[in-house]
This record gives sequence, C-alpha cells and structure tokens, in this order.
Amino acid sequence: MKKLLISIALFGVLCARAVSAPLSPENISFNQLLKDITAPAAARAPEPEERSAILSAPSDGRYWVTVKAADKYARTRLLEAGMDIVEIKGDNVSGFAGPHTMELLQSGGFVVLSRVPLSEYLAGRQKDFPAADAVYHNYKETWDLLKQMAAKNPDIASLFSIGKSIEGRDIWCLRINSNAKGEAPSSKPGALFIGNHHAREHLSNEVPLLFAAWLFDHRGDTAIKGYIAGLDIYIIPMLNPDGVEYDIKNGSYQYFRKNARVNPDKSIGVDLNRNYDSWWCESGASTYPGADTYCGPKAFSEPESQAVKRFIEARKNLKTHISYHSYASSILYPWGGKEEDVPKAQDKQVFVKMAAEMAKLTGYTPEKSSDMYIATGDSCDWAYAAGGIFAFTFELEGNGFYPGAAIISKAVSSNIKAAVYLLSVTDDPYKLAQ
Ligand code: ARG
Ligand code: ZN
Repeated sequence: MKKLLISIALFGVLCARAVSAPLSPENISFNQLLKDITAPAAARAPEPEERSAILSAPSDGRYWVTVKAADKYARTRLLEAGMDIVEIKGDNVSGFAGPHTMELLQSGGFVVLSRVPLSEYLAGRQKDFPAADAVYHNYKETWDLLKQMAAKNPDIASLFSIGKSIEGRDIWCLRINSNAKGEAPSSKPGALFIGNHHAREHLSNEVPLLFAAWLFDHRGDTAIKGYIAGLDIYIIPMLNPDGVEYDIKNGSYQYFRKNARVNPDKSIGVDLNRNYDSWWCESGASTYPGADTYCGPKAFSEPESQAVKRFIEARKNLKTHISYHSYASSILYPWGGKEEDVPKAQDKQVFVKMAAEMAKLTGYTPEKSSDMYIATGDSCDWAYAAGGIFAFTFELEGNGFYPGAAIISKAVSSNIKAAVYLLSVTDDPYKLAQ
C-alpha cells in the first residue's frame, strides 16, 4: 500500500513535469533531478486504464516460461535456443521464449515447468506496478539533460555523438576532461560508462546519466576535482536509443531487448550484447533472428556495437569500464564467453579486487560472468580482449525490468559510490595487484 501511495505521488510529479516548462539549467543539478524523481507532490491517482496501459502486453507471441536448468551449462543451452533468461532461482530459470524457442526446448528435452502467454504473465503483475515511470528519461530528455550539463560546465565538459543508431539517432557521449574536448585525444587514463545496451533496461540509463549530474554538482570536492583534472571520463548513457523508444512507444512497455534492425525474416532486432567479436555466437546466443538472444549475421553487424568498437579502438588511454544492465544485482567480470579465468594472473587479481570493492558499495554480488552463464559476443569481454580495459557488467537491482521510479534514487546513490571507486583506481588499476 505504501508503495502504491508513493506511486500515486510520483505519478503526480510526472504529470506536473509533463506540463512544466522545458528544463532550465538550474533544474539539472543532481539534487534537483533526484527531487523531481522522489519529492511528494499533489497527487492525482492514475486511472486504472492508465496503470494497465503501462504494462499492456505486446502481442508478439512470446511466453513467460520457467524451465529446469541446474547449472550454467544448461542455462547456456537455453540462451542458444533463443530463450531470454531473466531470473535464475536455484535450479529453475524463468524468462521469455517465442514459439520457435518453445519448439527447441521441447525437442531438446528441457523440462518446462510452466508456460504462460505474455499477456497473462503481465496481467498478473499489473496490480503492483508503480504508475510513475515518466520520471525515467527517454531519448530526447536524456539528450536534453546531457546538452544542459555540457553547456553549464563548458570548462570541463563536452558532448559529441559516437555514431548513429540503425534508425539514425545520434548516440551521445558526455566527456568530462579538464582540457581535452570532444573527440580530441587525451593521454590521461580513461574511464568509460555505458548504459542501455538492452532496450527495456531503463534503469541502466538513469544510473550513468545521474552519475554525470552528480559529478558536476561535486566537481569542487577534493577527490572529484582530482579525478576531473587527472582522468578522461566518458559517459554514454543510452547506447540503444531506437530500442528504448521502441520499448516505450504508445506508452506501453514492449519488454523489448534488442536494437531496431529489421531482419531478413521481418523480425526485429539483434541482441547488441551478443554482437561483439569475442568468440562471436559460439555459446549462449541464438542464430535465429526472431530470438531475443540473436547474435546478428556477423560480429559487429550493428551500427551501435560498431560505434563502441570505433570509440574504444580510437582511445588507447581507456583503463576501466562499466556497462550497465538490469536486473540481477550482480557485478560481472570476464570471461563471460568461456569458463576460464582471464589468463593474466595480475589482471584477474585486479578484476576480483575491483568487483569485491564495488560489491561492498552496492550490495551486489561479485562473480565471474560465465559463472552466471556462458555467453559470447558480450561487450565487456571484447573491451578487455581488445583494449586491456578492466570492464565490468553491472546487473543493477530491481524486481523486474520495470521496477518503477521509487528504485531510482537508491540504485543511483549506491552506484555513484561504485563509479567513484572505479574512478579512484583508473589512474593505475594495477596498483590493486600485489
Ligand atoms: N544479462 C546480460 C546479457 O545477457 C549480461 C551478460 C553477461 N555476460 C555473460 N557472458 N554472462 O547480455
Ligand atoms: Zn542487459
């Protein structure tokens, strides 16, 4: 009930915001942004139709299934059948599966414990859903905020596009560096934060976006001042803008994961986190275009992953990286595509130490990526293999892909601590290895 009241209050906030004037520079401070998200306001209870509209089912033939899969090998096979693994609880795995994947599960001898059409699954969840999700930033709002932050901090910030999405949207990158601007090279050690590889993981945009706002608010603090002076910081909060816009079209969530590529069979999307050239499509990915884990026709077939490739290859100064996803409350480090540890003992020490420290700050669980399941073609394996970058996949918290607005402030504050920790070791991550 308390949750419902918060939801109603938040819905009031978003309604207020929807009619208010465009954000002015004074509104972009971290504190103001957080206040927008959390402050109680004169509430207007959402109409039941509004609440259910948010979670009305996309009619794409998918099911919500629970399947027996006792270990990471079985989970990897599920991904290969095209299942979109969402939750792992003991020996049971739940997630989304289309008709093609259902057939493969059957013929592959998997024990399907339950199977409900997406519409029923969603109907069962609607009653608890907070209605106030408009405080999340869509593509335009994200871009506006980035522009305003850059405009307000011209001495240390710049904004540039790293390339265009398949539908032609610019993929924006905010850079924080006390001297180099835009695409000018820098020899300072670099840190890179990317959100929203996956469309429906909206919290993964908020965390890096609000981290940027927080950094500007705290640019005078001794430690932060030092990082801004000594490092080259890049924040790309929304790598997959087409997917995000697709997911929220019509104001009703689509549970959409991939980018907006129209495949030859007319299905939509390539899984961007299976499209990198790290043992591309060997394990934990599907070659079936309609599957949620479709790896694409070849490595780096997609403009969004290509943009990251070009970006990283052009910046040899990058040392550390977080790619934000949701939701499992875990901090994952390479390899994700094979079971082995990374071969360099020193690097492994750094990965384990950094993951453990960031886990303390967030309450998440640190883990080698492939211990969850083996999936090739992910961005962090590639960033480490190609650039020697200490790259972490953060699976943010939540009870679903749409955890509501109330989760933002907590997720953001603990993740700011972890991101600041990352900055604190970016000058020389090897200082952590004995
Ligand atoms: N859940 C994310 C995905 O499916 C994270 C993957 C992490 N990598 C891995 N190999 N387990 O893309
Ligand atoms: Zn994801």
